[in-house]
Amino acid sequence: PKDVGIRAMHVVIPSLYVDQADLERYDRVSEGKYTVGLGQKQMGFCTDLEDVNSLCLTAVSQLIENNGLSYSDIGRLEVGTETLVDKSKSAKTVVMQLFAAAGNHRVEGVDTTNACYGGTAALFNALAWAESSAWDGRLAVVVAADIAVYAAGSSARATGGAGAVAMLVGPGASLVVDRGLRGTYMDHAYDFYKPDLGSEYPVVDGQLSVRCYLNALDRCYESYRGECGARGHAVRGLDAFDSFVFHAPYCKLVRKALARLYAKDSVREKTSADEKAAAADKTSADEKAAAVDKTSAADKTSADDKAAEAAAMDRSRPVFEAKTEPSLMLASRVGNTYTASVYSGLASYLLSVPPERLAGKRIGVFSYGSGLASSMYSITVVDNGLAAMVGRLRESVSAGLRRRTRFTAEQFADALDVRRESLHRAPYAPAGDRALLFPGTWYLSGIDEMRRRHYERK
Ligand code: ACO
Repeated sequence: PKDVGIRAMHVVIPSLYVDQADLERYDRVSEGKYTVGLGQKQMGFCTDLEDVNSLCLTAVSQLIENNGLSYSDIGRLEVGTETLVDKSKSAKTVVMQLFAAAGNHRVEGVDTTNACYGGTAALFNALAWAESSAWDGRLAVVVAADIAVYAAGSSARATGGAGAVAMLVGPGASLVVDRGLRGTYMDHAYDFYKPDLGSEYPVVDGQLSVRCYLNALDRCYESYRGECGARGHAVRGLDAFDSFVFHAPYCKLVRKALARLYAKDSVREKTSADEKAAAADKTSADEKAAAVDKTSAADKTSADDKAAEAAAMDRSRPVFEAKTEPSLMLASRVGNTYTASVYSGLASYLLSVPPERLAGKRIGVFSYGSGLASSMYSITVVDNGLAAMVGRLRESVSAGLRRRTRFTAEQFADALDVRRESLHRAPYAPAGDRALLFPGTWYLSGIDEMRRRHYERK
């Protein structure tokens, strides 16, 4: 099959949000800590009416309807999430309720979990299926959905968020995933994990998670570039991309991530210029070794030294503004949506460029999930019905952002307390206000005494 990739996207934005400046005052932290220090404007959240299953139901039903598809067109459905509710029973099986009326039960795929990486793992599975002998000509749907909430009083609280991105995957796509060009880095780390299965809150070592993220970025960049070389492609730096989209726990970290790739490119260019000069001069091996030492010293500096980090951010500002800042629109206004984060970034970038100028663009993608799993890959934009695809995406995203209701920081804290106290309570009737949900949203109507969850649509 030709042009395998993402054919359509649908973003689900929570109908409620809190302003980060309100949160700064409520949390009694210094002014600017969340808005400037983390780079966040607002944070989306859900009441007890929504869980990961309802987010997936909303995302899949709207993707299918908005794109004029039938449930029988789908042969694979994958969910990436870290907000599990039934542990052994996947969110995917809950979404199968939507397929029942079409009589389509022949749908492969289940859930994939590893912190914020599950969506990417699910996408890789769907791409592999569409390119394999198991493919039967139908399309795949990948949903990345999460509710990111942190304990009250923790420094991570302001880096929450919620949302879902559903993607239609198959041949003839507008966002063609470059075949074979992937970098991956996996390791064991306790930077963020959820050992308490009765709580939605993670245990998080925030500073370690930031170091793990940046180290994984370095390693994926090396690995991606290595793959390019091995497969006979030009090995270039950021200049090979029109946009670079990152997993966005908070916007400031993405700014640092871009600066880091920029600094790596500069060191590499300088080293290769030094090496060329050395070769021309027939300079000794000692000097070449010194150049290599300089490279690793520069790597170390950018990792450990705040001043060097700030300088790199400063130098890379024009590149950041051109290639990455547009991808942070949803991240800054909705927050960290975990598995959906990097795909919200992709959607934000697509919405920032006039559709007639999108074809031919190359997009770099970095996906990170604590624990840890990370990959870098690239996308080439092809005009396979691009304008219609982006038009539908724009409609749903702008309607979502425009119609949201702003809660005060106190109301937000209360809503999260209700979530915390009611999680896994049975029987249970959610207390959230249905009037505040967007029309067409699936919500949890109740949990019965057998802890079975029931959903209805507004
Ligand atoms: N005005 C402007 N900037 C400020 C202010 C202020 N009033 N106060 C603080 N800052 C800056 C700090 O200088 C710092 O900047 P820097 O990162 O450039 O050094 C930044 O704001 C953050 O301040 P810290 O004191 O370092 O932050 P804190 O320790 O409170 O927490 C953290 C930040 C660790 C990211 C926390 O929010 C967290 O644990 N989040 C969840 C984990 C996370 O998102 N990890 C990322 C990858 S893993 C994942 O996706 C879940």
